[in-house]
Amino acid sequence: MEFNTIIEPFKIHSVAPIAMTTENQRNRYIEDAGYNLFSLHSDDVLIDLLTDSGTGAMSRNQWAAIQHGDESYAGSPSWLIFKEAVQNLFPFEHVIPTHQGRAAEKILFTAIGGEGKVIPSNTHFDTTRANIEYSKARAVDLVIAEGRDPANLHPFKGNMDLVALEKFINETGVENIPVVMMTITNNSGGGQPVSLENLRGVSQICKRYSIPFFLDACRFAENAWFIKEREAGQSNRDVADIVREIASLADGMTMSAKKDPLGNIGGWLALNDEELASTCRNLLILTEGFPTYGGLAGRDLEALAVGLTEVISHDYLKYRIRSTAYLGNALAKIGIPVVQPIGGHAVYIDAKAFLPHIAPLEYPGQSLAVELYRVGGIRGCEIGTVMFGRQPDGSEVPAAMELVRLAIPRRTYTQSHIDYVIEVCEEVARRASSFRGYVITKEPAALRHFTSEFAPL
Ligand code: F0G
Repeated sequence: MEFNTIIEPFKIHSVAPIAMTTENQRNRYIEDAGYNLFSLHSDDVLIDLLTDSGTGAMSRNQWAAIQHGDESYAGSPSWLIFKEAVQNLFPFEHVIPTHQGRAAEKILFTAIGGEGKVIPSNTHFDTTRANIEYSKARAVDLVIAEGRDPANLHPFKGNMDLVALEKFINETGVENIPVVMMTITNNSGGGQPVSLENLRGVSQICKRYSIPFFLDACRFAENAWFIKEREAGQSNRDVADIVREIASLADGMTMSAKKDPLGNIGGWLALNDEELASTCRNLLILTEGFPTYGGLAGRDLEALAVGLTEVISHDYLKYRIRSTAYLGNALAKIGIPVVQPIGGHAVYIDAKAFLPHIAPLEYPGQSLAVELYRVGGIRGCEIGTVMFGRQPDGSEVPAAMELVRLAIPRRTYTQSHIDYVIEVCEEVARRASSFRGYVITKEPAALRHFTSEFAPL
């Protein structure tokens, strides 16, 4: 018999306190923070949905593995345990450990990017794009049209537009495209998955044109679960088996181990090409560390090796995807517009539709994020004009979408925490017509969303 209640497939082993605050206190904290949620003290946040990156809870087996960590500078057994765990799912020849995902990106694009190069993806994550552009190469997003429409119910909205990819290759020239990337799941596009069929299609195109194909695989297990649930002929497969097939289609990967590998820190770059691996290892030694630990301590390598075995559990993934959908569906039911279908790691509220009276250049997403904090102490993240509006030429242009992301840390909050979030959102919806826009009063030269200060209009 299958019951409806989603029970967390774990019991709590160690707890951290949440300090209760009042709306009056939070009004003061957010004003002191210049209305920027990144400037809050996390102790003043009740439910922290800023990111799912590195904020999850480790298991007792991961903590036990921490004790097993060996901190030898070279050739540590912890390195071999880590390498084996990675290659068990992603059997690439070379594994290069880094302190987090963007370090792997920096090394890869330093090696293969540069002036005149263009790198397509379904949608590049912002650090990926930034690292490509820092190398003076160009980043291009070729997600299918459905992936740009918040209300569209396509089951794989992270898919690459294969026709556009082939056209792009022919127009740009193979010699200018050092790699084709695919982000699974597509974080910037709403945490939407990519189908196996689409990955096979991208792989075939890349083979035909002899262009390497790399995965940005942070949320690979969530993506594989969506394939199992939604793609014809996949429902009887083991998730690990689907992951191995995905890996077999690619020539390499970048990874943030702060997501699906269930770590608080970590990442890697993995690939088959011997010569490129050698270049990358030399860069690794310059900025991260010796190739058998990269940017990590032996204990971190061990915790990640265990995390990789836990994240592919069907019980875990079923709970993970259902509990994210539980929040998203509840918000939709009370009339809050959310990106559909609900993604794997986060619920994205469409602030443009939710607060139509606030103009894009008065930052409806920022306004909503501030009110979620004020009303209920919930910290989400604006993904809209504050994040993307400032152009390289200094002008300001509204972003394509005004979203507020509520990202769910892994194994951290219970269903009653999420029920509280739903109740707060209900109250926020009641007050929505009274919310006002913001102006930016202080802005840094780049990545303004992290440190800008705001004032209410
Ligand atoms: N790629 C994707 C798809 C990501 O979501 C992230 C991080 C990275 C690469 C970079 O990894 O943080 O370990 O350097 N995303 C976080 C987020 C920060 O909140 O979505 P990192």
